Amino acid sequence: MRKIALVNQKGGCGKTTTAINLACCLADDGKKVLLIDLDPQGHSALGLGVESDQSENSIYEVLLGQIPITKAVRTLNKNLDAIFCNVVLSAFEQVMAGAPEREYKLARSLEGIENDYDYLIIDSPPSVGLLTFNGLMACEEVIIPVDSSSFSLHGLGKLLDTIRIIEEKTGHELSVKILATNIDRRTNFSRGVLETLRAHFPEKCFETVIHTCTRLREAASHGESINEYDRRCVAFRDYRNLTHEILDVEDAMKAKMATSRPLSEDEGPLGKLGERTVTFTFDAPENAVVQIAGDFNNWSAEGLHFTDSPSSPAWQKPISLKPGSYQYKYLIDGHWMTDPANRKTVDDFFGGANSVIDV
Ligand SMILES: Nc1ncnc2c1ncn2[C@@H]1O[C@H](COP(=O)(O)OP(=O)(O)OP(=O)(O)O)[C@@H](O)[C@H]1O
Ligand SMILES: [Mg+2]
Repeated sequence: MRKIALVNQKGGCGKTTTAINLACCLADDGKKVLLIDLDPQGHSALGLGVESDQSENSIYEVLLGQIPITKAVRTLNKNLDAIFCNVVLSAFEQVMAGAPEREYKLARSLEGIENDYDYLIIDSPPSVGLLTFNGLMACEEVIIPVDSSSFSLHGLGKLLDTIRIIEEKTGHELSVKILATNIDRRTNFSRGVLETLRAHFPEKCFETVIHTCTRLREAASHGESINEYDRRCVAFRDYRNLTHEILDVEDAMKAKMATSRPLSEDEGPLGKLGERTVTFTFDAPENAVVQIAGDFNNWSAEGLHFTDSPSSPAWQKPISLKPGSYQYKYLIDGHWMTDPANRKTVDDFFGGANSVIDV
């Protein structure tokens, strides 16, 4: 599951609009999508014409561990599920004050549904508090919508600094992209904002920009996504383009995996005799969930075994590999990490890195 959080402490910059329309466009393209609303304002439900969740089966109860996540899921259409919230969610920060691991509540609750969806899209509140931290720790990708009409380079810089500090302190890597929203190309101001963004963050900006389009406001007030409301408007085209840009990253990743996959037994001249057993080892507490995924298992995470040796207890997995170069990553308690014991890495196409082992 690819997990993407919409984050910006600035209000009204298009987080909810993007979360809803991206989720709906991905679902339209045949992807299985889960949308989670982490904003106590509950705007995602409103924008999709769903009564906000007044029951006790909302994301709040999931984060508190009172119900399994599957109990909070609501099916909106064949490919789109959602978990909504209500205003009670605003108590989360206080209720959790001082609780251990409180930033990881969402990440942990997703573990059981990791394989049920292709995409998770998270809408966040306009603040960088505990709820947004939970969204960030549960995701590998972040989209920062930047509204051209209230653009502040300073505010964006501070948000990027915050994300970098979170990465440094937790070791959780995040691939960050900036999405310019509410762009009116007729105005010098909007054009100037785009130029500034692209000059300062050339690698981070999406090619796609979301233009100002009143149909988006109308769609939200009718409780419909833009693909339900009006497929001829500019905003529909923009959100389709954004979806394709995001899907292109997935295609590039798959192509890379296909070309770097080791020879199969049929193809390879070496056969089983040419294989070597590599024991992958990760140092983590016994109660952690430690998995590995890489070229050698088609990137489907497999568990390691805890070896309780008195000298050096660790998680281990022996894997037979034919000679070649393999990329891999560990998945620790739902968080992707490169191998801390291996300095050799390559770009993973998501703005992060994979570890590399040569056999
Ligand atoms: N490209 C656009 N053109 C015109 N209106 C837009 C556009 N994008 C968003 N809007 C409108 O701007 C308002 C704010 O957008 P939205 O709710 O998505 O922002 P937000 O970042 O989620 O806000 P908050 O921080 O309060 O959650 C909404 O009324 C929405 O319909
Ligand atoms: Mg919002």
